[in-house]
Amino acid sequence: VIKACVIGHPLSHSLSPLIHNHWFQTYGIEGIYKAMPVPPEQLLPTIEILRQNYNGFNVTLPFKRTLIPLCQTLGSTAQIIAAVNTVTVGQDGSFHGRNTDTYGFAQNLQQKFPNFDWRKGSALILGAGGAARAIAYALKEKGVAKIYISNRTSSHAAALSAQFSLENLKWDSRENFPADLNLLINTTSLGMKGQPPLDLDLSSLPSSTTVYDIVYAPLITPMLQAAQTRGNPIVTGIGMLLHQAVPAFEVWTGVRPEVTPELETILLQAMP
Ligand code: ATR
Repeated sequence: VIKACVIGHPLSHSLSPLIHNHWFQTYGIEGIYKAMPVPPEQLLPTIEILRQNYNGFNVTLPFKRTLIPLCQTLGSTAQIIAAVNTVTVGQDGSFHGRNTDTYGFAQNLQQKFPNFDWRKGSALILGAGGAARAIAYALKEKGVAKIYISNRTSSHAAALSAQFSLENLKWDSRENFPADLNLLINTTSLGMKGQPPLDLDLSSLPSSTTVYDIVYAPLITPMLQAAQTRGNPIVTGIGMLLHQAVPAFEVWTGVRPEVTPELETILLQAMP
């Protein structure tokens, strides 16, 4: 029996168990995936239990960075963005840490728009947290020539800009969209249920710019609603969650699972 879980804090309504348990069932694999809320002071004892009893686990806030020094080996993406979201436990109890958020971000867009041309025009990232770091690296990997970043706290954006050679756009000027903008991405928590909406006037946005929100609750955020109304292509955040789970399930089981519309529907129905 394959045993996996997600650790994080708080972990009130994680959708990961639904995804992985759906795949265990679909592919006839004997396995169980649990949500394991772990207060920070319990992290070390908990991962010793996981080391002895689990095949692997996912890591979410606030532990993605904490896991870096706890892994014996790291995948290249985890190393570059200094965050781990997927751990494989070896026969000898060693941890191999990976990051699949970068993959999940790009794969989601590509599944929605197979002909999307990453090399055409520029991209603008709003926000400069952990998600923005994974996305900046994805855009670099895809060959986006010019990447802008805009964040409320400019010093947070500066660190990211230095690492990935991004162009800083002042937060107050974030609506001065570059004329060649091909992709606009919200990575802040704004627009999420219970949070204020992202205050963004899209009137000067080129009509061809694809608008991508990584917030998935609600599925159509106020930003996506505004983009859709003016006819821009949009990408919702639920697919990033689904696609980042694919490589994790594959390394634990040897089976590469498929993200199907059926699974997306299951997730949407379970959303709080
Ligand atoms: P994650 O790791 O999930 O990306 P995070 O590191 O907490 O989350 O990042 C949250 C992002 O949302 C940050 O870019 C944050 O901006 P600051 O760097 O200025 O804190 C942004 N954010 C959160 N609340 C915001 C608000 N009210 N206005 C503007 N940006 C906000």
